[in-house]
Amino acid sequence: MRNSGTGPGPITPDGSPVDFYSLLPPSGEPELVAQVTPPGGAVLELGAGVGRVTHALVEHGFEVVAVDESAEMLARVRGADTVLGRVQELRLDRRFDTVMLASQLVNTVNDADRRELLAACARHVKAGGAVLIQWMPADAHDRWQTGMGRQDGDITITMAAVEEVSPGIYHATMRYSYGDSNGDDKVWTQSFSSKHRRRAVRRTGRGRAAAGTVPDGGPHVGGGEARLKEAAFTL
Ligand SMILES: C[S@@+](CC[C@H](N)C(=O)[O-])C[C@H]1O[C@@H](n2cnc3c(N)ncnc32)[C@H](O)[C@@H]1O
Repeated sequence: MRNSGTGPGPITPDGSPVDFYSLLPPSGEPELVAQVTPPGGAVLELGAGVGRVTHALVEHGFEVVAVDESAEMLARVRGADTVLGRVQELRLDRRFDTVMLASQLVNTVNDADRRELLAACARHVKAGGAVLIQWMPADAHDRWQTGMGRQDGDITITMAAVEEVSPGIYHATMRYSYGDSNGDDKVWTQSFSSKHRRRAVRRTGRGRAAAGTVPDGGPHVGGGEARLKEAAFTL
């Protein structure tokens, strides 16, 4: 299934509705970054979107470089350097205290893409730095069912459809709605595929990311110098 989206305003190639993501506040990610990043340190945010997390990181005093493949998303980022492009092809020729791979990109159903995403993390993190990976853990995946969701103020997020189309591969459609007190309701959908994973990355020993290629083609952060201080975070 190709990712897709519907609703008012621009929609990114991965189906994300730009106007909807502009409505969302951060939910704990900046504090996670602050736990593993020196004060005033440099953070590379991969798949940054409109800056939902970026802006809070800038307020924390971090120097942020925000990367996204959507110009419409990046146009809304303030206070950070922006880089337009795909994470897989990113070569900035500098390293960061912390690299964040956001948005469950690591749950891609394309194994080659996953390896390239993680390789991009590895080539941009300083020795001793941190890589934070947002992912959908297996147990959370197991709980997915049509109709589940949450409401937060004017925003309602519902899993409108989900199907395990082959073992461990899910196709899902989310429905996002926003209704303010003026009756100005907006509805978006986002359809995507996601792969059930037992781990976000393969690790060796305590706190060390595996280097090189994992035999089963599983996710890894390679490069020897890359150290994984935080394995993963979820929203
Ligand atoms: C669901 S949005 C979330 C944005 C932001 N991380 C947040 O949590 O608010 C996912 C973002 O990742 C971007 N994206 C998806 N795949 C990408 C890729 N391979 N390279 C760069 N950006 C990507 C999309 O354009 C979109 O802005």
